[in-house]
Amino acid sequence: MTGTHGVESIDALIEALAAVGYQAERRLATAVFLSLHLRRPLLLEGEPGVGKTELAKALAKVLSRPLVRLQCYDGMEQREALYEWNHAAQLMHMRAQQDRTQPEQLEQEIYQEKYLIRRPLLQALNAPEPGAVLLIDEVDRADAPFEAFLLEYLGEFQVSIPEFGTITAAYPPVTILTSNRTRDLNDAVKRRCLYQWLDYPDRERELSIVRAQVPLAGEALAEQVATFVQRLRSAPFISAFSRSPGIAESVEWAKALVALNTLQLDPEVVQNTVGVLFKQREDIAALEPLLEALLQPAPVVGTA
Ligand SMILES: Nc1ncnc2c1ncn2[C@@H]1O[C@H](COP(=O)(O)OP(=O)(O)OP(=O)(O)O)[C@@H](O)[C@H]1O
Ligand SMILES: [Mg+2]
Repeated sequence: MTGTHGVESIDALIEALAAVGYQAERRLATAVFLSLHLRRPLLLEGEPGVGKTELAKALAKVLSRPLVRLQCYDGMEQREALYEWNHAAQLMHMRAQQDRTQPEQLEQEIYQEKYLIRRPLLQALNAPEPGAVLLIDEVDRADAPFEAFLLEYLGEFQVSIPEFGTITAAYPPVTILTSNRTRDLNDAVKRRCLYQWLDYPDRERELSIVRAQVPLAGEALAEQVATFVQRLRSAPFISAFSRSPGIAESVEWAKALVALNTLQLDPEVVQNTVGVLFKQREDIAALEPLLEALLQPAPVVGTA
């Protein structure tokens, strides 16, 4: 196995990701390549729906490794992220053995591996060859103590379980962290990772994602969707909305339009489907007066 996990070049990685349906721009592919090559976790930050989570899924497919996912949230505890003991099974063991076994012996017996419930971080450390892809999703939602705990994990790929000992990864997981930047992450966590900001795609990449994921849309409709969403995200329209639709919304919108047998965008069909693009009442209200301008035909590029 090579240092890059069998991925020989950035071009090969772009191609392999595309083959599993993920269109990566070169900068992102370079960051992923380096993260594989240097065996360092990769922290992805970006707006919602720009493909952070999807990248980890696609990478697991490319590397033929299982994806282990830890979805972070406020108040998440170590026992949900790492491990906990199967108390019910331990109790049954104690009841069955208490008359026959010395207390010290019994204590040893109940802290055996078979009573350990592995949560995602431990599953990722224990994954058999060639190892897992570990996705620590939306790490900004977890709290500071969890981040502090992650420091050791990310640095050494090992954890210590007081009753059991230290567990070190035989095959360290390829690790992706994502953040929506609802708060700034700990600098020490960032230092242990390579970093990549994921932007909204340009029109060509968005078009090619819509084409690939919604083939039934047809070329004309796919182009209109890409143009419309790109305009929404650029001046002067962008300032009218509280947030811009992501790639996820473009893809869903194209699917919705296909379901309605739409061949061409017009103000009415946009209004009827606007709930796919915007999830805030104020944004939906702000869209209406801008529709005509947004639906202007695209200027023809490249002709005099
Ligand atoms: N580069 C891409 N290539 C192909 N599809 C993409 C790409 N980026 C995003 N998508 C599509 O957008 C959807 C949403 O992407 P994803 O869930 O990864 O966003 P995210 O950045 O994790 O958003 P959030 O911050 O809300 O979790 C994916 O399911 C996929 O259909
Ligand atoms: Mg996500």
